[in-house]
Amino acid sequence: LLFTHIGELTTNDGEPISDAAMLVVDGSVAWVGRADDAPAADRATDLGGAAVIPGFVDSHAHLMFAGDRAAEFAARMAGEPYSAGGIATTVAATRQASDPELEANLARLTSELHSNGVTTFETKSGYGLTTHDEERSLRIAAAHTPHTTFLGAHVVPKEYVDRPDAYVQLVIDEMIPACAPHAWGVDVFCDRGAFDGDQARAILEAGKAAGLLPRIHANQLQAGPGIRVAAEVGALSADHCTHLTDDDIELLAEHEIVATLLPGAEFSTRSPYPDARRLLDAGVTVALATDCNPGSSYTTSMPLMISLAVREMRMTVPEAIRAATLGGAKALGRTDIGFLGEGARADFAVIDAPSATHLAYRPGVNLIRSTWINGRAVA
Ligand code: NIG
Ligand code: FE
Repeated sequence: LLFTHIGELTTNDGEPISDAAMLVVDGSVAWVGRADDAPAADRATDLGGAAVIPGFVDSHAHLMFAGDRAAEFAARMAGEPYSAGGIATTVAATRQASDPELEANLARLTSELHSNGVTTFETKSGYGLTTHDEERSLRIAAAHTPHTTFLGAHVVPKEYVDRPDAYVQLVIDEMIPACAPHAWGVDVFCDRGAFDGDQARAILEAGKAAGLLPRIHANQLQAGPGIRVAAEVGALSADHCTHLTDDDIELLAEHEIVATLLPGAEFSTRSPYPDARRLLDAGVTVALATDCNPGSSYTTSMPLMISLAVREMRMTVPEAIRAATLGGAKALGRTDIGFLGEGARADFAVIDAPSATHLAYRPGVNLIRSTWINGRAVA
């Protein structure tokens, strides 16, 4: 199938191509280039001058939950501070929910992601916080994405509030073995009100020993040990990175850890944004992701993340689009997605505009005309 009359094709493999075409064979990209040079194909689809980009890779989301926290959001906008403690509200609702309810919520959010141009997403557990509820969250998620991340160490649940170390031990001894068959990654919320550096290191090492890829929620609420722990355990990415010291930035660059920035969280908690420029100038690979969760960032819009990154975080438009596609792919350790060149999976989004710049230039407008995974339209 030849997609032709593409106004601007972002490949992430050299400069964007104008007046482009893309040939898809068996779910993969077989050729990209100028429309005038396109090879013959069985069928052709005229995109009428629309821009095409690689599908967004949302490398950080928390989609296994029930209920919402609209009241908490409203209170926060009226002046209450954000704290990690709000997670407990969602934990209570998630434990009450049946498997079909959790799956229906995930399916609803997946369809929102597709409508927003997302072709690959990660989801964490972390709102069960019992072995049973973490295990079923990941088992359900694993039917919908290969990138399921065990986040049993999201916060210490209320049953363990006086014995946090006993909870860490439960995570290591019982939860990781039960969850590992359904999980791809392991994550810890290493921050004020959650887990400290030693606890995070112990859990990530135990996850690694069970075959899971480590990643970490680091430095969202304050500077701390998270980046050092990420370097020690060989994390693929360190996520949030809102409060970074110069040493942290050096560690990220030196260990080639992707810095995953989640501006939806700063937007919805009215916090200062991370400075992407500082990271990019130091040679760090930056990813943008939604952090979709009912507490700190209840959005599935990658275009909104691009708008925020460009307007508030000193990223150029091409840098932001790259971070939302190729950056996310790198954060997930994927080499088959995040770009559109020969051999790539045919995962892409068609934009109702002549250039990808419109994604940032027209904030709050959903310009995604269609979303394709493996060469098939999903939205
Ligand atoms: O990534 N920071 C930790 N976890 C989520 C928020 C979870 C919640 O408030 O429910 C985050 O922002
Ligand atoms: Fe998160």
